[in-house]
Amino acid sequence: QSRDTLADIIPKIELKVIKETYFLFCENPFESNKVDEDYADEFESAKINGFRTLLFNFDDLTSEFYFKNATKQIKASENLSNVIYRGWMLTPKQYSNLYEDLLSKNYKLINNVTEYQNCHYLPDSLEFIESKTPKSVFEKFENSESIEKLIEKTKKFGSNSVILKDYVKSEKHDWETACYVSDASNVQNLKNSIENLIRLRGKYLNEGIVVREFIELNDLTIHSKSGMPLTEEYRLFFFNQKLVEIYDYWEEGKYDLIKPETKEFEEIGKNVKSNFFSMDIAREKNGNLIIIELGDGQVAGLPDKAERNEFYKKLKNYIC
Ligand SMILES: Nc1ncnc2c1ncn2[C@@H]1O[C@H](COP(=O)(O)OP(=O)(O)O)[C@@H](O)[C@H]1O
Ligand SMILES: [Mg+2]
Repeated sequence: QSRDTLADIIPKIELKVIKETYFLFCENPFESNKVDEDYADEFESAKINGFRTLLFNFDDLTSEFYFKNATKQIKASENLSNVIYRGWMLTPKQYSNLYEDLLSKNYKLINNVTEYQNCHYLPDSLEFIESKTPKSVFEKFENSESIEKLIEKTKKFGSNSVILKDYVKSEKHDWETACYVSDASNVQNLKNSIENLIRLRGKYLNEGIVVREFIELNDLTIHSKSGMPLTEEYRLFFFNQKLVEIYDYWEEGKYDLIKPETKEFEEIGKNVKSNFFSMDIAREKNGNLIIIELGDGQVAGLPDKAERNEFYKKLKNYIC
């Protein structure tokens, strides 16, 4: 009997080498072979920069019964490939369905579900950003008792001002009635605002409510439609824990300002357990910079003014 030589053995080892990175977008709800209009320019930019693209059906994925159909257009691939999603926010459950579905076809989303949730849910993000973000308390929302528990936790803010959001989003365009509470010790006001927030979020409420200490931020202007104060804020994107780009956050308001020093945020970014995420930072009135929130990079919007092509070109340098 002859012994196998190395040359005989090597082809038998199934090497799951990740070869390529795809970008995944939502398809147009009315034309399944086209991309969702809102992502048409990103889709083009991805292609121009040499990335291959995939489409799936967002409505199916987020439906109760048809989520298994969402990727039916996508054929299983022979080699394992990386996939980066760019599109609308998904709940961790929906993301998990998408992740499993794609993996069964040999496409691996850049973040697993835990990594997704790390930057998607504020309570999960806190462990990475606690030192640089406003003090926060939170409570999962189940019933009216949850509100009472949250109000109890809010007592630590005394009569300071606070802001409210669910685990993912605020109702910042209803600033006065569902987001900002000028005196946290005014329990009736606080409760009204929490209830307004829950009502406005409706079926889109994410998990629970967060109450955060309000910090005076450096004003830019007042939002022309909602009256919300627009303050000096920036959105940073990180890929593989490295800073890719920093954008002015708002469309309105003058940013004739020097871009902030990002060193300390780059240090924090190194410890965030996610392969692609956004970090929103803001300047306090006293000049200090703080973190407002993290977001999964796959569902964080690019500011309208941001050059799509440049973004994908930059990303290409970080994707290997
Ligand atoms: N702790 C805070 N103090 C002062 N302003 C805040 C605070 N948190 C958020 N804001 C303001 O409210 C806006 C919305 O808050 P954010 O947490 O980003 O909610 P959303 O997820 O809806 O974008 C921020 O862009 C910022 O201008
Ligand atoms: Mg935000």
